[in-house]
Amino acid sequence: MSVRKAVIPAAGLGTRFLPATKAIPKEMLPIVDVPTIQYVVDEAIASGIEHVVLVTGRGKDALVDHFDRAPELEQFLAEKGKDDLLAMVRDIAEKCEVIAIRQKEPRGLGHAVLAARPAVGDEPFAVLLGDDIMVDDSRLLRSMLDCHERYGRSVVAVLEVARNDIKNYWCVSPEAMEENLVRIRSIVEKPKPEDAPSNLAVIGRYVFTPEIFDALDRITPGAGGELQLTDAISLLLQTQTVFGYSFETGRYDIGKKIDFLRATVELALDRPDLGDEFKAFLADLVQRRKIV
Ligand code: UTP
Repeated sequence: MSVRKAVIPAAGLGTRFLPATKAIPKEMLPIVDVPTIQYVVDEAIASGIEHVVLVTGRGKDALVDHFDRAPELEQFLAEKGKDDLLAMVRDIAEKCEVIAIRQKEPRGLGHAVLAARPAVGDEPFAVLLGDDIMVDDSRLLRSMLDCHERYGRSVVAVLEVARNDIKNYWCVSPEAMEENLVRIRSIVEKPKPEDAPSNLAVIGRYVFTPEIFDALDRITPGAGGELQLTDAISLLLQTQTVFGYSFETGRYDIGKKIDFLRATVELALDRPDLGDEFKAFLADLVQRRKIV
C-alpha cells in the first residue's frame, strides 16, 4: 500500500531555544522569511504525500493558522495589487490538506506519533520531525518511500556522524544490504563512542508500517520520562524487519542554535533576491573580523 499521509510532530516545548519559544512555536522560527514548518510540509508534499497530520500542543495554534486561509490579509493584498504575495499566501493554504491533532501533554516523540493514530488509521505513514529541515528536493524522503514500496516494511533515516558525536544520538547496529540501505539489527540509546555498534545515527525522517502504533501502545516511559519512538522501533524489530536508509547532506536541526544559524546563512546565500548582497556582506565581514 502506498503512503498517503505524513505525521509531523510539532508539540514539543522547544526549551533549547528559549526565550524565543516561550510564546512562539519553535517550528515557526523562520529561515529568512519561511517558517521551518513550511519547509517540512513542502518536503512532504513534493514527495507525493497527500495529507499532513500536524501534531501540536497548547500555545502552538500559529502552526495550524499558517496553513489556513487569511481573508483579511488576502483582501488587503488584493486591494493593494500585491498579486505575487496574494498568490503565495493563498498557495500555502491550498496546497495540501492539513489535519491538526492536539498532543495534550508533551510526553515525548513516541507519544506525539501515537496521538496521530486516529487520523492515520491502519495504513503506512511517514513521520517528519517538525524542527528538522532537509534541503534536498525531497530526495531522501522519496527514496525512503520507494524502499517501503519495494519491501513493505518500515524505513528509518540514518546519518553517518563523527564517532565522538554518536553519544548524542540513537545509534543503529546495521547489516549491509545494498547501497544506502541497511537492515537494522538493534537500536542503542546514546552509546559511548567505544561501545557504539556503528556511527549511524537515527535522524528525523521515518516511514512506518501501522504496526508501530501497537508497539507505541506497549512501551513504557523511557529516558526523561518520555515515550520514546526509538523504544517502539526496537519492539517492532522483534516482529518485522526495519531498514535504515542512509543519506549524507541537506539536514538542519533547527532546534539546535548552530544548525539554525547554518541554515539561515546557507539558504540566504542560495536566494536569488538576497544571495549576491549577502555574499558581499559575508566577504566583508570575514575581512573585518579577521575570520580566516
Ligand atoms: P525535540 O526533542 O527536538 O523537541 O523533538 P523539543 O522537546 O521541543 O525540544 P527541546 O529539547 O525542549 O528544545 C523533535 C520534534 O518532536 C516534537 C517537537 O515539537 C519537535 O518538532 N515533539 C517532541 C512533540 O511533538 N511532542 C513531544 O512531546 C516532544
